Amino acid sequence: MYSSLKGKHLLNTQDWSVEEIEKLLAVAKRLKQERELDILHDDILRAKTFFMLFFEESTRTRNSFECGVHQLGGNANYLTPEATQIDHGETAKDTIKVLQRYGEGIGIRRTYANGNRYMKDVAKFSDIPVINMQCEDYHPTQALADLLTIKEKFQNYIQNKKFVVSWTYAPNYIRPISMPQSLILLMTRFGMDVTLAHPQEFHMKEDILSQAKQNAKEAGVNFEVKHDMEAAFEDADIVYPKSWGPVVYTDDEQEGLDLIEKYPEWVVDQDKMNLTKDNSLYMHCMPADRDIEVTSEVLDGPNSVIFDEAENRLHINKALMVTTMAGL
Ligand code: CP
Repeated sequence: MYSSLKGKHLLNTQDWSVEEIEKLLAVAKRLKQERELDILHDDILRAKTFFMLFFEESTRTRNSFECGVHQLGGNANYLTPEATQIDHGETAKDTIKVLQRYGEGIGIRRTYANGNRYMKDVAKFSDIPVINMQCEDYHPTQALADLLTIKEKFQNYIQNKKFVVSWTYAPNYIRPISMPQSLILLMTRFGMDVTLAHPQEFHMKEDILSQAKQNAKEAGVNFEVKHDMEAAFEDADIVYPKSWGPVVYTDDEQEGLDLIEKYPEWVVDQDKMNLTKDNSLYMHCMPADRDIEVTSEVLDGPNSVIFDEAENRLHINKALMVTTMAGL
């Protein structure tokens, strides 16, 4: 018997038990199946509002939450710092204490300037669930959608599947490390053997690495770090290659951009995919740097599940709103 998730925040998947995450996945699976049968769910969040506070741009996160709450019968309010009094200095406490008088849930994306601290401040004063829509350290809704995708593709037989998170070369700007950090934290808890691959300077935060190691130990799986992309890809069941900045190594932007240029060979092409198992999955949270970090041949190839992942953002986000806002 599952306990209610009503009112529960999701700032990091570590705050949710395996059982709670399994419940979320089960709700997402059911909502997805019933949507395919044209069964409507527009009474679950009728007349309820989900606030979406974006400090940065988004395609998938915004639209999956916005379409999702609409399909559940509720309303999405899109907020930005400029469109609210946040840019004039209104505090996290005052903002949430007002918004919770109007609506039933809030998601926040802030990947810079202590976004995680801001979300924790909001959550501390919030009576309504606070969902992390990506901060500098975590992207839990994406990682949960990815777990749903992996389970679907392998019909739940994911024990000891080799899951590889790899750095890729993508120039021009520094991308956050929230995605690889969330992936190594979540997949180690669900039976997969996890390999993290990156050039030396692109390492994760020490406390997150320790948590991933502890997760793997508790789950009885392997967790390893490699500095060789091809060695990591050998016999992989799932590869999740993605660019991120050397933000733990340096906070100097130009030094970070120069470091990225040291490793142009860290790209995904069919030769690298041929190192993986025949039925392996190529995953990417998107946006992908097409024909830069990965060839179109791979992105559009038979191993790629990128659009299924993007679709599953909808089903996971709906499940999150159903469980935390309605308590179903
Ligand atoms: N994967 C992801 O979060 O995409 P968006 O930045 O478009 O929301």
